[in-house]
Amino acid sequence: MEFVIVHKGIKPYIALVELNRPGELNALNAQLVAELATALQELDQDEAIRVIILTGNNKAFAAGADIKEMVDKNAVEMLQYKQKDSWSQIRKIRKPTIAAVSGYCLGGGCELAMTCDMIIAAENAQFGQPEIKLGIIPGAGGTQRLTRAIGKAKAMELILTGRFISAREAESWGLINRVVPAGMHLEEALRLAGLITQQAPLAVQFAKDSINQTFETYLEEGLDAERKNASLLFATEDQKEGMRAFIEKRKPVFKGK
Ligand code: CAA
Repeated sequence: MEFVIVHKGIKPYIALVELNRPGELNALNAQLVAELATALQELDQDEAIRVIILTGNNKAFAAGADIKEMVDKNAVEMLQYKQKDSWSQIRKIRKPTIAAVSGYCLGGGCELAMTCDMIIAAENAQFGQPEIKLGIIPGAGGTQRLTRAIGKAKAMELILTGRFISAREAESWGLINRVVPAGMHLEEALRLAGLITQQAPLAVQFAKDSINQTFETYLEEGLDAERKNASLLFATEDQKEGMRAFIEKRKPVFKGK
C-alpha cells in the first residue's frame, strides 16, 4: 500500500492505521480511500485485533477529498466515482474504530473521522466542512453525520459558512470525545482502545451495532435489534465467562468466542 500504513503490535489487540500522504495533507484520493477500505476490512477479519485506531500526522488527519482529482469530473462521473464503494465498505467495519486527530480534519477528512465510532483530538486539531467554499457540499455523509452529532443549527452554521472550529469547540459541541494536549492524541486513543480490548469482543461488536441502529431505524425497530443482539450474546462463551467471573469474584478471561 502506498498511502496507508498498518501498525500492529504497539499494544495487544490494537491496530493503528496511518494515513500517509503528507505532501497533500492526506487529501483523500480514490487510491488512498480504496487502500484504507482494504486495510480496515482485513483488520476486521483479523482475530488478533479488537480495536482499530485511525490517524494521520501532526499537521493533518486529512484535509478533505482530493480537489485535484475531482476538479474536472462531471456529474455522471461523480455518481460513478469508485470512492463511493470504498466509503460504504469503511462504514460497515464491525470492530470499534477510534479517530486520533491532529491538525486539519476537513471535508472528507472530517467525514472520515465521523465514520469512526469515537474521536480523540489534539488541541491543535481543526474541524470543518469547507466544501461550500468550493461550490459543492459534503458528499461522504457530512450533512447527515454532522447533523446527528451536533444538531441542526450548528451543522447548518458549519456547512453553510465552511468555517473551521477548534478541537475545544468540537468537544463542547459533542462532535468528539475529548481534547488532549498537542501530541498526546495517539496516547489517549491507545489508552481508550486498551480499555475496550479488555471487554468481551463479541459484546463490544454487538453493542456497536446496536448503538448504530439509533441512526438507521425508528425507536421500535432499534429496540428490537438491540434485544436480538443482547439475546444472541447468551450464545457466546464470553457471556458465561464474564458472568461466572463476577460470581466467583475474579477477572474474566475473554476469548472472542
Ligand atoms: N485536495 C488536494 N490537495 C490538497 C487538499 C485537498 N483537499 N488540501 C491540501 N492539498 C494540498 C495543497 O494543494 C498543497 O499542495 P501543493 O504543495 O502541491 O500546492 C498541499 O496540500 C499543502 O496545502 P496548502 O499549501 O494549502 O497548506 P496550508 O497550510 O497553506 O493550508 C488548508 C491548509 C487550509 C487545509 C488548505 O490546504 C485547504 O484549504 N485545503 C482544502 C480543504 C478543503 O476544501 N477540503 C474539502 C475538500 S472537498 C471534499 O472533501 C468533498 C467531500 O465531501 C468528500
